[in-house]
Amino acid sequence: MSNASSNRFANRFEGKVALLTGSAATLKGELMGFGGATVWRFLEEGGRGVVITDVQDEIGERSAAQLRDSGHDAIYMHLDVTDEDQWAVVANATMEHFGRIDILVNIAGILDPKSILDIETAVWKKTMEISTVGIFLGTRAVANPMEQSGGGAIINLASMAAKQGSGSYGSAYSFSRGGMLNFTMSSALQLSSLGIRVNTIMPGWVHTPFTDYLYTDPEQSKFRTDRVPLGRWGEPEDIAAGILFLASDDASYMTGAELLMDGGVSAGSVRPANPKSDD
Ligand SMILES: NC(=O)c1ccc[n+]([C@@H]2O[C@H](COP(=O)([O-])OP(=O)(O)OC[C@H]3O[C@@H](n4cnc5c(N)ncnc54)[C@H](O)[C@@H]3O)[C@@H](O)[C@H]2O)c1
Repeated sequence: MSNASSNRFANRFEGKVALLTGSAATLKGELMGFGGATVWRFLEEGGRGVVITDVQDEIGERSAAQLRDSGHDAIYMHLDVTDEDQWAVVANATMEHFGRIDILVNIAGILDPKSILDIETAVWKKTMEISTVGIFLGTRAVANPMEQSGGGAIINLASMAAKQGSGSYGSAYSFSRGGMLNFTMSSALQLSSLGIRVNTIMPGWVHTPFTDYLYTDPEQSKFRTDRVPLGRWGEPEDIAAGILFLASDDASYMTGAELLMDGGVSAGSVRPANPKSDD
């Protein structure tokens, strides 16, 4: 590979500012979430600065401090994505500090693994609220600042579960993720004239703090690995690559779209031991 092509991504986010929800787990040396893997790569590829937000303030503050110690411009702010006032505070603070918002990544989410018959109504509502009300409030909070910044990109983290029913558990989760796909399409239509692209990522099973309880349980982990045609759990870096593709100019002709990153799970059945048929 020539130097030119290996450095293709070196400065692709030069001057850009990214705001991320649900992104406290950004510490190098600890298990990172999608936000963490995205933030480090974004900054290493020239990003001017990041605002990481979450409801986990202690780890969020430590993450931002580590980013600053590494020479990056990073702020942590408390943001419960269901709170409209908090969105206003974060959007204003981002504009005051950086003067622009180019990228919003909506990552916040919860999953209660209970069936329709067992889940508490309050938890069902909370799951829906974080996924669907959260991205609505976030989209509205950044639309004008993004337009003032010359346009931007919003990336909503849904799930491969968004297009599947949940046979055993997680029905509130998959329902809420399906709603994210639909809202992405409406946002893409309504914000296109402001120069804002909006897309969704649908990850499969990825090892992050969100899934660590499954990953570290040998039976649960194998159950999933056996169902992934590519034969492994995803890493947060796999998904960060998709987030940053959608955030970059390489995706300049994509809006209202869904990027499935699930190692092949949604394509169908389990990876065969021998892909060649006998005849
Ligand atoms: N890891 C996977 O396998 C996987 C697969 C598909 C989809 N997802 C989705 O991706 C997103 C990112 O998860 P992750 O894997 O990076 O794990 P993560 O646990 O690092 O990120 C989720 C974050 O959301 C935060 N959060 C919860 N409620 C919130 C609220 N009301 N306001 C703001 N933040 C809140 C949590 O504190 C947590 O830090 C989640 O929405 C999850 O549903 C994850």
